[in-house]
Formats: sequence, C-alpha cells, structure tokens
Amino acid sequence: MSIKRICKYGEKILEKKTKKVNFGELKKELPALLMDMFETMEAVGGAGLAANQIGLDLRLAIIKINREDEPPLSIVIINPEIVEKHGSMYEEEGCLSFPGLFAKVRRAAKVKVRALNEKGLPIEVNAEGLFAKALQHEIDHLDGVVFISRLPLMSRLRLKPALLKLKSQWKKIDESKMKIPKPL
Ligand code: CO
Repeated sequence: MSIKRICKYGEKILEKKTKKVNFGELKKELPALLMDMFETMEAVGGAGLAANQIGLDLRLAIIKINREDEPPLSIVIINPEIVEKHGSMYEEEGCLSFPGLFAKVRRAAKVKVRALNEKGLPIEVNAEGLFAKALQHEIDHLDGVVFISRLPLMSRLRLKPALLKLKSQWKKIDESKMKIPKPL
C-alpha cells in the first residue's frame, strides 16, 4: 500500500474526461489500486477521490462518508453515470485538488447513479444530502470538471486571488516533499 500524490488544480489530467474502465483488464490490479486510493484519501481527510486525482486516466472513484452512530458509508464506483437528478441544493464544497479552498456549489439534491462496484457487478445507488453531493463531485472529476468551474463567473473571479495564493503554497509543499529522502 502506498500514499499517492494528489494532483492539484492546474494539472491537465484534472480537466480531461477519463477513459472508461475495462473491468476484465483492470481486475488484477484493482484491489491494490483501491487500497492505495482509500489510504491516500484517508491520509488527507477526504470524503472522496477520483482516479485522475492521483494521475490515472480511469473512470473510477471512491467515496467514504463518516456518519454518527453508523459505520462509514464507503463505496467504489466504476464507470459511473448519473441517470436521474431531482431538486437542488446549494452547499459548501472542498476538494483534495484545491487544498484550503471552499465554495458553495449548486447541485441536485438527489441523484440516481449506475456504476459497477469493486467486484465488477452493476449497482444502482439512490443518494441524497452529503452522499449525493459527493457522487456529483466525483463524477464531475471523471468528466474532467473541477468544482470551481460549477461556480458563477462572478464567484470565480472573486476566488481568483485566493486561488493564486494557494497555488504557490501547494507548489512549495510538493517541492519540500520531494526533498525528503525516501526511507530505504
Ligand atoms: Co474533488
């Protein structure tokens, strides 16, 4: 298992639609890949991670939502598609590819998603609330859509200075990590 570097805003792979997964071809590597994805997401305290956020051109994402008095809601979605959307919500979102940035995004309040699970079996998920938000956010990633592009133009312009400042910090963090010698 290993923790992967998360691609940050500005890296091309985040704005490109990912390739559909051929489950048979990926099957062997999938368990290790999913373990790395969960480990990476948990290391940085995220609730979702799309494969292209760790540099892989694959239409696959994971979501893990911690809940009170219940086990966490954890799901793998391979080749997901939103087949139904209802209502609307307007809530704060963040993204592991934009560390430190939060903004309110308009999303459907409820969605129905079809995908394959980690065993390659078709699943249909009906979600609302935080789960619906996470599904829409991750499926957007897989379509090459980052959450700030969902914001109205005026909000995007307002966020621009903050975003530039954050980008320079991410660069410094990545560079300092590169200098640390790897343990043998
Ligand atoms: Co994200």
